[in-house]
Amino acid sequence: MSTTDLPASHAELMDGVYRWQRHIYDLTRKYYLLGRDRLIAGLDVPAGGTVLELGCGTGRNIILAARRYPGARFFGLDISAEMLETATAALAREGLSGRVTLARGDATNFDAKALFGVESFDRVFVSYSLSMIPGWEKTVSAALAALSPGGSLHVVDFGQQEALPSWFRKLLRGWLKKFHVEPRQSLRAILDSESARVGASVRFKTLYRGYSWLAVSKIAI
Ligand SMILES: C[S@@+](CC[C@H](N)C(=O)[O-])C[C@H]1O[C@@H](n2cnc3c(N)ncnc32)[C@H](O)[C@@H]1O
Repeated sequence: MSTTDLPASHAELMDGVYRWQRHIYDLTRKYYLLGRDRLIAGLDVPAGGTVLELGCGTGRNIILAARRYPGARFFGLDISAEMLETATAALAREGLSGRVTLARGDATNFDAKALFGVESFDRVFVSYSLSMIPGWEKTVSAALAALSPGGSLHVVDFGQQEALPSWFRKLLRGWLKKFHVEPRQSLRAILDSESARVGASVRFKTLYRGYSWLAVSKIAI
């Protein structure tokens, strides 16, 4: 596993959040990080393709995607050494260590060639991480910049709960705040503007009455 320069305070914060949580993360998040399996199903990775997850956490998504797309190579980046420890163990248990490379790094500013020995990827995805990354807009630009021609960026995260009752929205927001999670109101606008800058087209979906948002930004060949 490799590392690059990290924003120390955010890396420490994430390690603090996940030091104990990582042991119950997959079990508990199953019930409220909705739309992740839909994102994986929509990756449609080409044969022999390369896939990068930014903010890969426990490796849960990479494991499911690696099973679904057996010919592909996978890469995972996370700022938390604690989460990466869990991901490394999970990949070894699944016999996937040879097909997946993990690295510690900052998703707002990373050098894929230095970390993974790969310049660009057929698919990049970000699942419930933009809502935890300070300066997350830079992750959107970095992800688009890391795509090969014809590649696509896939994002799933909390929406604005726009069609859900206001009491639910308030309760959810208060609870997410305890974990340093902030649903990004301008997610769609930033995806649209950053994609337009690089000539990519965006498909945006609202899931579960705005509980989650799912987007795909596709670069022209
Ligand atoms: C809510 S978890 C999502 C994990 C996984 N993607 C999933 O869907 O289960 C957010 C992850 O983003 C990581 N993270 C937060 N800020 C980051 C940053 N600046 N760079 C890379 N990873 C970051 C955290 O360490 C954590 O593993």
